[in-house]
Amino acid sequence: MSMHDDIQEILVSEAELKEKVTQLGEQISRDYAGKNLLLVSILKGSVVFMADLMRAITIPASIDFMVVSSYGAGTNTSGLVKIVKDLDQNLAGKDVLIVEDILDTGVTLSKLKPMLELRNPNSIRICTILDKPSRRKADITADYQGFAVPDEFVVGYGLDYDEKYRNLPFVGVLKPQVYQK
Ligand code: IMP
Ligand code: MG
Repeated sequence: MSMHDDIQEILVSEAELKEKVTQLGEQISRDYAGKNLLLVSILKGSVVFMADLMRAITIPASIDFMVVSSYGAGTNTSGLVKIVKDLDQNLAGKDVLIVEDILDTGVTLSKLKPMLELRNPNSIRICTILDKPSRRKADITADYQGFAVPDEFVVGYGLDYDEKYRNLPFVGVLKPQVYQK
């Protein structure tokens, strides 16, 4: 049985993702030329985008990873973000680009960004492959974004439902019966 059987609709195809990531890589390579670029991937959702984006960037860059968990499951803008796995690198003087899978309510990044700003990076920006602007609760926007998606739960290209479907090469919507299992 294939995972693809659980997909109702493909919202962003593999080819569309590839083209967009190439464009983002070119833009980031131009914008960060001569800077000290550090790509910070928020695990686990951004791992697929990170792996593609870093190879679309043609200037020197270092990478690091972070695991965060939000209390209140992103329902409340006053919720806290707990650092489960911190960065290895010092941010002083770095030009940090946070790499995310999706900007949904924005609660996670609206908490995380100020926490990282306290570490004195030279700059800090956000790059997300997907954006769900209709769901935003926190006052935050991405500096680089791939595709806006409607207010539907999406999976694939790193995004999961119950830790599955991250390895789908496209972004899609699950069939309703999958949630009823
Ligand atoms: P936030 O609501 O912007 O704080 O989003 C936090 C996290 O929720 C994202 O980084 C995703 O990992 C997850 N998330 C939000 N929307 C979806 C979705 O449609 N599918 C899968 N994960 C999602
Ligand atoms: Mg997630």
